[in-house]
Amino acid sequence: MILKGKNIVLGITGGIACYKAADLCSKLVQAGAIVDVIMTPAALAFMTPLTFQTLTKRPVSVDMFQLLRDTDMAHISLAERADVLVIAPATANTIAKLAHGLADNLLTSTALACTAPLVLAPAMDTDMWENPITQANIAALRARGAVIVGPGYGRLASGRIGAGRLVATEDILGAIRQTLGRKGPLAGARLVVTAGGTQEPLDPVRHLTNRSSGKMGYALAEAARDAGAQVTLITAPTALNTPYGVERVNVRTAAEMAEAVLGRLEETDILVMAAAVADYRPKVTAEQKIKKGEGALLLELEKTEDILAEVARRRPALAHRLLVVGFAAETENLLENALSKMQAKRLDLMVANDVSSADSGFEVDTNRVILLNPAGEQEALPLMTKADVAEHIIARVAALWRRDHG
Ligand code: CTP
Repeated sequence: MILKGKNIVLGITGGIACYKAADLCSKLVQAGAIVDVIMTPAALAFMTPLTFQTLTKRPVSVDMFQLLRDTDMAHISLAERADVLVIAPATANTIAKLAHGLADNLLTSTALACTAPLVLAPAMDTDMWENPITQANIAALRARGAVIVGPGYGRLASGRIGAGRLVATEDILGAIRQTLGRKGPLAGARLVVTAGGTQEPLDPVRHLTNRSSGKMGYALAEAARDAGAQVTLITAPTALNTPYGVERVNVRTAAEMAEAVLGRLEETDILVMAAAVADYRPKVTAEQKIKKGEGALLLELEKTEDILAEVARRRPALAHRLLVVGFAAETENLLENALSKMQAKRLDLMVANDVSSADSGFEVDTNRVILLNPAGEQEALPLMTKADVAEHIIARVAALWRRDHG
């Protein structure tokens, strides 16, 4: 949602990675942004304005001396319109010009006139990137507030392996979203979110786990980042990429997750326990692979630590107020079970999650939840994507946070 209706000026410079800017452009448009593309003359050697004009359904600007709508000076009106100026890919040449205030084409002139935040995604060969001149230029731009995303490491157009690749579209989008949201309702809040299903080892090759994919927790991390929070994601193993701008802490077992969460309580303002934490673990973990025997195999399980129960116990001794959000994944008696867990774990907000149908809960991209609070209010959300559910939850969390922090 954060991109919806936002004016993004997307600058494209002349490097081989600029074909990837078409994907970025398309994703921005799909997310509801109004995208004005500026191409440098060198970018025209790689792509045509028609590509971006088709994707944005808006004119693409190249000419420094063109007037928009007959009288507007393009560089001034584009600079004024921008909520954020993104340059992807940003070549070493354009980075050097920006660092020194050169304004020799429409993009660099717009950048000089623009007071909106600047997001740069550098892409070039390793030697150009590692050149002290480029590094000094990047440092100068960063010192003036520019957000530098990447570059990534990997195979370059030259065939070499090294630093200089344009980062994935997902990361550039993440950087844009974080930049747009940095003064959002959770600015200044330190938020910890847990995600995924813990794994409790039986032996070196087997473990007990559950069907949690981590998608809900990762979506919450992104929504919180977009609302301006400083986010730490404590995650059990998942197949998901780390969201841009989020600190990721990898754990495996319930005990490791407990240690990671409890060890951070002093520095946490908001805790969102979206992880599916195992309630039981094998009493003994075999050192060698368990061999098949003649009869049945009986496993003895012991209880894991209930992280939220321990948080509730430690909370009164904390020097600051901690907001706690929990989840209840239920297959029956949803409201009744969720309400009693909210009370037992002293939560500020409970997300009651119906995991009994195929389109809601574990593994899928959609979810159906009811939000409950200790005041007895209930808000049943319709089936929606986990990203949308996450935004709803974070909006409720932000309202609680703002109540305490003006
Ligand atoms: N939770 C936790 N530590 C555990 C188990 C769960 O902190 N060892 C958290 C979950 O992250 C979730 C909430 O407690 O936010 C409720 O989890 P759930 O598994 O639904 O509830 P339990 O209290 O474990 O009860 P039950 O499994 O019997 O339904």
